[in-house]
Amino acid sequence: MSEATDAHGMQVRDEFAHQADSFARSAGMSLAETLDAVVDLAPAAADARWVEVACGPGLIARALAPRVGSVLGVDLTPAMITKARSEAAAAGVENVDFALGNATALDIPDDTVDGAITRFSLHHIPAPVRVLEEMRRVVKPGGFVVVADHVTDEDGDAAAWHEQIERLRDPSHWTCLTPLRLAALGARVGLEADGEWVVPFEIDYDEWLGRGSGGPANAELIERLLGEAPATVESFVVRGEGDGRRLALRNSLYRWRVP
Ligand SMILES: C[S@@+](CC[C@H](N)C(=O)[O-])C[C@H]1O[C@@H](n2cnc3c(N)ncnc32)[C@H](O)[C@@H]1O
Repeated sequence: MSEATDAHGMQVRDEFAHQADSFARSAGMSLAETLDAVVDLAPAAADARWVEVACGPGLIARALAPRVGSVLGVDLTPAMITKARSEAAAAGVENVDFALGNATALDIPDDTVDGAITRFSLHHIPAPVRVLEEMRRVVKPGGFVVVADHVTDEDGDAAAWHEQIERLRDPSHWTCLTPLRLAALGARVGLEADGEWVVPFEIDYDEWLGRGSGGPANAELIERLLGEAPATVESFVVRGEGDGRRLALRNSLYRWRVP
């Protein structure tokens, strides 16, 4: 299924049509160390075929391309697929391809790729377990499933506070998983845990706020919420002053093997 006919799918498409250019240009999203931390979890193999799920403008696909034989990026938002193709062409990366598609129903046969990877996508998707199921389904036995996402705190008050800000800033945000829940989803779909890492992720706060379609209109309310952070919050921290503020998110990486 490549059509986003449900209300949330339409919201995702609207949001990421809005963000296609700004996401592709975001310094924080393109930082080499952050991209490398994710793609280094894919073993280098010249004949390996990988799929990048919810690929956006293809930042991960292009970073992964030199390590493997080919990467197919799939995304629900047509504007992101257009952007991913033009960015790959401009960079002269030839072993990547991009297609419209839904992470919860991939148009890829069972057991046909060596690995599946996704970054910063699960928190936009109402049924993240379906995404992991699909990633597992398309990967051959012995292959890899790699997920990176910014997660929320296990503490309920901290998580609820965090979610308010995320949704005000980006109405396509669904919910951040906690580290325990994300690890449990992998086990639930029958994946074998193969490592878990936390990699520092910091971004310019004003750039992050302004990129979300709700950010500018809700800036004042978000500012008030920032002043009311529960003491237990660790996963979403704004530091610094004025124009130099930085947002630190907890960026959790997981690798699983397909049995
Ligand atoms: C925050 S962006 C991340 C882009 C890319 N993964 C990266 O980290 O550079 C989230 C992307 O997920 C896509 N997305 C959200 N829900 C999706 C779904 N159900 N199927 C496929 N893509 C989806 C959006 O269109 C958007 O491009």
